[in-house]
Amino acid sequence: MAFLINPEDQDLLQTVREFCEKEVKEQCKEFDVSGEWPADIYEQAAEMGLNALEVPEEYGGPGLERVTVAALMEEMAKADAGFVTTITASNLALKAVLIGGNEEQKQRCCDLLIEGKHGAFCLTEPMAGSDASNSKTTAVREGDEYVLNGRKCFITNGGVASFYVVTAMTDKSQGVKGMSAFVVDAGTPGLSTGNHENKMGIRTSNTCDVVFEDCRIPASARMGAEGEGYKIAMQTLDMSRTWVGCGAVGIAQRCIDEAVSYGKQRITFGKPILKNQALQFKIADMEIRTETARQMVAHALKLMDEGKPYSKESAIAKCYAGDVAVQNALEAIQILGGYGYSREYPVEKLLRDAKIFQIYEGTNEIQRMVIAKNVIGKF
Ligand code: CAA
Repeated sequence: MAFLINPEDQDLLQTVREFCEKEVKEQCKEFDVSGEWPADIYEQAAEMGLNALEVPEEYGGPGLERVTVAALMEEMAKADAGFVTTITASNLALKAVLIGGNEEQKQRCCDLLIEGKHGAFCLTEPMAGSDASNSKTTAVREGDEYVLNGRKCFITNGGVASFYVVTAMTDKSQGVKGMSAFVVDAGTPGLSTGNHENKMGIRTSNTCDVVFEDCRIPASARMGAEGEGYKIAMQTLDMSRTWVGCGAVGIAQRCIDEAVSYGKQRITFGKPILKNQALQFKIADMEIRTETARQMVAHALKLMDEGKPYSKESAIAKCYAGDVAVQNALEAIQILGGYGYSREYPVEKLLRDAKIFQIYEGTNEIQRMVIAKNVIGKF
C-alpha cells in the first residue's frame, strides 16, 4: 500500500515501520509464547497515536487518508498480527459509533482512543457467531435506563477496553429488527470479563467473554433508535472487513520476506535454494496473490472514499486476503523445510496468526454468502 500514499505521509510510514520492526516484531516473539498482554508495547503504540489513526479530523484525529492508514496497518501486521488485531478491533468499535452514534458518543469514544485507550465490539455470542441475528443478550428498558443481561464471547480487547459497543435485544418478537446497539463504559457495575481465550495465534491480542449481569446503563447510551442495532452492526462489519483484509496482506507480505531472506542464504546442492526455478515460482505465486489482495483492499478503500457501495468488495478483500495469508504461510513453511516447522523460525507463527483471518469478522464462508447475495440480489 506504501506506493499509494502521499509523499507527506512517507515520514510517518517510515517511523511506524521502524517502531514495528525494532520493537513490535522483536518483543512480540516472547509474548507469543507466554500469551501475555504486552502492555509496554501498547503504551508505546498509544504514545505514537496508533490507537487513534482512524479518528476523523473533526473529532481531533490525525485526518489521515484511508490508504495511509492501510499502509501503516500493513506494517503493524507484518510485525505482529496480534498487535494489528488489537488496533483494528478498537477501530471496529469506533466505526460502529461513527455510523450509529450521536455527536456526544462519537466525541467521547474518539477522545478515549486519542488518549491511547481501547474499544471492543461486542456482537458475538455463544449461539450468535455467524448467525449474528440469534442474539440472546437482552436490554430491558426501565425508566431512564436499560438493564443488560447476557454473555458475549470471543471479544477482542474484551479485558482491556475502555468502551464497549454492545448489541442486545430490546424486543425479541421483532427478530433482527428488535436488536439495538449501545455504548457501555468500562467499569459499569454488572459488566465483567469471563473466560480468557488461550488462542492458537494472534496471542498478543486480548480475547475474552464479556458478561452483563443486571448491568444498568443510561438510556442515552443507546445508539440510534431501538431496533437499529443489527443494521449498525452489519454496516460496521461491511466497512471493517476491508481492514481485516489489510492485516492479512501484511502477513502474506511477511511470508514472502521471510521466505526470500532464508532462500537466498540456504545452500543445498552447492547453491542457494532460491536459484531453483521451482522455488522462484513459489515466490512468484506468493507475490501474485499478495499484490492482488493488496489491490483489492485498495479498491474497496477507494469506493469508501468515493461514497460508493463497497459491501461486496470489502467481503472479497477480507476473504481473498485471508486465504492468501494462509496459503503464503504454508508455502513459506515449505520453503524453510524443517526449519519452517520449528518454533526457532518465525514462519510457523505466521501460519497460526494467518488462520484467524479466515475466521474472525465473519468466516470466509459468511463472506461468500455476502458476495453471492450482492451478485445474485433478491429473487
Ligand atoms: N447493511 C445494512 N443492512 C443490512 C446489511 C448491511 N450490510 N446486511 C443485512 N442488513 C439488513 C437487511 O437489509 C435486512 O433488513 P430488511 O429486512 O429491512 O431488508 C436485515 O438486516 C436482515 O438482513 P438479511 O436477512 O439479509 O441478513 P442476514 O441476517 O441473513 O445476514 C449474515 C446474514 C450476512 C450472514 C450476517 O448474519 C453476518 O454478517 N454474520 C456474520 C457476523 C460476523 O461477521 N461476526 C463477526 C463479529 S465481529 C468480530 O469478529 C470482531 C472481533 O472481535 C475480532
